Amino acid sequence: MVETIRKLTETFGPSGREEKIRNLILEMIKDHVDGYEIDRVGNLIAWKGEGGEPIIFVAHMDEIGIVVTNEIREGFYRVEPVGGMSPYSALFRRFVLEDGTIGIVGVEHETADEYKKFLSNLNFDHLYLDTMGRKARIGTFGVYDSSFVENEDLMMSKAMDDRSGVAILVELVKNLENPKRKFYVGFSVQEEVGLVGSSVIAYPVDVSEAIAIDVTDSADTPKAFKRISMKMGKGPAIKVKDKMSISDRRIIDRLVKVAEEEGIPYQMEVLIFGGTDAAALMRTKEGIPSATVSIPTRYIHTPSEVISKSDFENTVKLLSAYVQRV
Ligand code: CO
Ligand code: ZN
Repeated sequence: MVETIRKLTETFGPSGREEKIRNLILEMIKDHVDGYEIDRVGNLIAWKGEGGEPIIFVAHMDEIGIVVTNEIREGFYRVEPVGGMSPYSALFRRFVLEDGTIGIVGVEHETADEYKKFLSNLNFDHLYLDTMGRKARIGTFGVYDSSFVENEDLMMSKAMDDRSGVAILVELVKNLENPKRKFYVGFSVQEEVGLVGSSVIAYPVDVSEAIAIDVTDSADTPKAFKRISMKMGKGPAIKVKDKMSISDRRIIDRLVKVAEEEGIPYQMEVLIFGGTDAAALMRTKEGIPSATVSIPTRYIHTPSEVISKSDFENTVKLLSAYVQRV
């Protein structure tokens, strides 16, 4: 499990540049599924089992990143976030570009006063990527250069959003030897720039429900944000609502019932911002009843997203049990 997450999080795959991560996922699942296809925009869909009420689980393959927008002079470039990246998360971080070039983001200033002023109100106008003299073409993508770290309870890496969801689906297809109903696992592209892949991922399949697996905020630091309740280590979060959609009530009720009956820890989630692939799945085709199961995560969209091993394992358990209840 840990090795799967390590490999998945360390692999390059910003929105729109998912080839490497898609190949890795395919490598991991292909011997454990009955079939798979890659659709015209690059989503990967695999399936397993037969009969029952088919369901699709979706996790997004892409991670947030940057893209080179202009050359200031050779070795210094303007960049723009791909997905939601705060300039504060970018500053003084290492990035790796698609050709392997390593760069660091700095802040341009002529005076100490200007430096102070910019730091207190940072934006991408003031930031540049220094590629140590290497040429970078406009349109080149990059991601945080960050490696996986773990202790007994927790794991830290870039791209836990949403490679932890991807890893859960990888474990799901490996665990369920004889599923009692047909299920699909979908790995979507370009979630971070607006749920792009998931808005078409379900077209080739006939399913009666969809569940997105994604990270959610964890309010468990000493003075954590008090308007949300999710905590790492308390089990998968069954999402009632976020800013972009409200989960189908019947799916929520079934998830809760399965968790209770199987003795799997879980928590309810109301996120007051954000959105997941469920928002797109719900309005695709004739409308697919959809919900989200989330992994509480600290420091989302930074190079060091932290999740709990037990939450990961309990999410795999919950989804496995959910498939087996027809
Ligand atoms: Co995200
Ligand atoms: Zn996500």
